[in-house]
Amino acid sequence: MLLIKNIGMLATPIGSTARCGTAQREITQLYNASILIDDDGNIASVTANGELPHCSNDIQTIDAKGLLVTPGLVDAHTHLVFGGWRNHEVPLKISGASYLEILNAGGGILNTLNHTREASEDELFDRSAAFINEMLGFGVTTVEAKSGYGLNLETELKQLRVIRRLNRNTPLDVIPTFMGAHAIPTEFSGDANGYINYLIDELLPVVAKEKLADFCDVFIEDTIFDAAQAKKLLLAAQNLGLPSKVHADEINAIGGSELAAEIGAVSAEHLLATEDSGIAAMAKSGTIACLLPCTSLYLDKPFARARDMISAGIPVAIATDFNPGSCPSLNLQLAINMGYIRYRLYPEEILTAVTLNAACAIGMGEKVGTIEPGKQADMVIWNAHDPSMLCYRMGSNQANIVIKKGKIYETR
Ligand code: NIG
Ligand code: FE
Repeated sequence: MLLIKNIGMLATPIGSTARCGTAQREITQLYNASILIDDDGNIASVTANGELPHCSNDIQTIDAKGLLVTPGLVDAHTHLVFGGWRNHEVPLKISGASYLEILNAGGGILNTLNHTREASEDELFDRSAAFINEMLGFGVTTVEAKSGYGLNLETELKQLRVIRRLNRNTPLDVIPTFMGAHAIPTEFSGDANGYINYLIDELLPVVAKEKLADFCDVFIEDTIFDAAQAKKLLLAAQNLGLPSKVHADEINAIGGSELAAEIGAVSAEHLLATEDSGIAAMAKSGTIACLLPCTSLYLDKPFARARDMISAGIPVAIATDFNPGSCPSLNLQLAINMGYIRYRLYPEEILTAVTLNAACAIGMGEKVGTIEPGKQADMVIWNAHDPSMLCYRMGSNQANIVIKKGKIYETR
């Protein structure tokens, strides 16, 4: 058993389903609170106003010293298993090359693909495990990770196996997404349809049979995959038990968010260029908008219309998109800052976006994302006293103590 006492403010959304509209802002705030954690790493009870739970006096105790406690952060969108970096691309962009031009000239994702194909499974594991430790230090306790830097059977499976090992051998829950449709590999240059068929015939059945992924994602974008190609792949994946995610409207709005709504995708991600029709469609379908503000910053593109999405009743999550091209940061606290200042969401909306709504975007809403009896004991004691401070301070790591499944990780 573990007791956390003397919590100045415990701030958490409540429930296991995504919160939308005005409910995204409704969080529970308890003062002078305590949390009792059982030996299985789950939350046994939550008390407030100085009341302590019934437990023996000699159990392990953490004094939260009047600080803020929230659920552990959930990063619902990353590409964290990759070889190499792409720092050399930034000067090209400064000289005027666009993200899609670099990709279509064989750089970008295709550059990372070469490094990822060359790396051994152990090398990829060691590198990604180090990233995950860094994330834990920033207060992240659950993370999603996509494949998509292999784009052939061997390397996509290698990436997914690394993700499975990360889930088993690091403290975090690591949720795997199959993203074979991340770009068109040179072997299929000019033949997006042929590549989609290859994914459906050769990769999806193996990924599903070996239970290597919980979701299937696709990059719908000009010169990459169109909505019809994406639909074919995502429906085939759904038939094999893999729910859909979509990289939608990242640079150009070519029907990504509308398709996500039409096929009942769990989430549509990016949405920088989403138009009114996409917002209206997603509001009807209940698809979660997973927004990635650090990517807007890094690509020097517009920020998603987060306020319009919340007003329309779309549940909003916020994640990093950590990857070597469009977001080389794995710091979800930075995404929180961007959500605050650029999306102009309220601190309570942001807290829901990086905990419960993010958990629901990756099928983890029953287990994590809130501090309630029965949920996994994933939480952060912050060097802050309330959620507005978390959103406001920029560039310093405000995580003080991170607790994952009841285990304590001191970050400083
Ligand atoms: O979400 N858009 C596609 N995928 C990533 C970028 C991956 C990369 O550039 O390596 C994204 O932005
Ligand atoms: Fe992404």
